Amino acid sequence: MTEAILLVGGKGTRLRPLTVNTPKPMVPAAGVPFLTHQLARARAAGVEHIVLATSYLAEVFEPYFGDGSAFGLHLEYVTEEEPLGTGGAIRNVASRLSSGPADPVLVFNGDILTGLDIGALVSTHQSSGAAVSLHLTRVPDPRAFGLVPTDPTGRVTAFLEKPQTPEEIVTDQINAGAYVFRRSVIDTIPAGRPVSVERETFPELLRSGAHLQGMVDSTYWLDLGTPQAFVRGSADLVTGRAPSPAVPGRCGDRLVLPTARVAPDAKLTGGTVIGAGAHIGEGARIDGSAVLDGAVVEPGAVISSSLVGAGARVGARTVLSETVIGDGADVGADNELQAGARIWCNARVPAAAIRFTSDQ
Ligand code: GDD
Ligand code: MG
Repeated sequence: MTEAILLVGGKGTRLRPLTVNTPKPMVPAAGVPFLTHQLARARAAGVEHIVLATSYLAEVFEPYFGDGSAFGLHLEYVTEEEPLGTGGAIRNVASRLSSGPADPVLVFNGDILTGLDIGALVSTHQSSGAAVSLHLTRVPDPRAFGLVPTDPTGRVTAFLEKPQTPEEIVTDQINAGAYVFRRSVIDTIPAGRPVSVERETFPELLRSGAHLQGMVDSTYWLDLGTPQAFVRGSADLVTGRAPSPAVPGRCGDRLVLPTARVAPDAKLTGGTVIGAGAHIGEGARIDGSAVLDGAVVEPGAVISSSLVGAGARVGARTVLSETVIGDGADVGADNELQAGARIWCNARVPAAAIRFTSDQ
């Protein structure tokens, strides 16, 4: 059975303050730590042994997922003393793999929500005989990703991570963050120092003439690296647009976790999730948003495409659009926050302190 490595050691800088207390893969999406969805999808594809390569806030993974048996998995954890980068992280867990030199090993970025057919990626890898096979997807603006042009047979011709110049934007096909490595290729990555698989390993393999195979598809794909993407991913999981066997409830317009209290006339739409113990007051309207455990949304608040952190409070009539409220923050009544605003964990915003439009 194919083994997998999950890369979960990044700092999640672009998601701050969501990642101040919680590593990116542990931030709840549709009611459970995001990583749960990736583990469930891998398990559904037949993967049983997964090694988590951890670094930032490494200590929180094992207490939650344990040995994986509750998820039908055998999980192991390997923590880097200093972050080793994506390639270094893969190399650093090699000793935990039981695959033979010619066997395929799956590698996943830990922040991708996708409908990828994992079995099809492994089959493509086996039938092409490639050293590494990569899931590719097309995006309108590829600049924030690794560009991966291929020839008509799908063979990778270049790997351009985060292109800096217009001349480098040679394709809209990007690295979608799921690979199959021939086990022996992992063993050739230098050990004991930081290595970027994107900037070093893939370009060097190509220079040496190795066969890298791309598999492009048009299934659901989202990198949850920014607050807006994270909130959208969570909502897509709730509505079922993004596939996951791990959503704790029926897919639909809303997901209210047990022990949350929602006023009967509050309106929850667009894949909104309300976490355990949260409280939503009368007349509140919440669309396409995530309200984490223990948060309080007071009467008449209007929230769209936003995330309200664990234990945070949103005051009466406050309007939030595309805003992140950190864990434990307190936003007073009659505020108006929008357009990427980030309120830090435990910060206090007084009542009627911030507006983007006139209050009259
Ligand atoms: N263990 C460990 N150690 N994991 C790491 C480290 C590290 O030093 N650095 C990053 N990671 C993990 C992150 O936690 C994440 O799951 C994954 O590696 C990718 O890192 P990101 O920081 O999310 O990279 P990105 O989104 O800018 O770019 C990557 O993903 C794109 C697709 O979403 C690249 O692989 C791009 O080529 C790709 O297009
Ligand atoms: Mg990412």
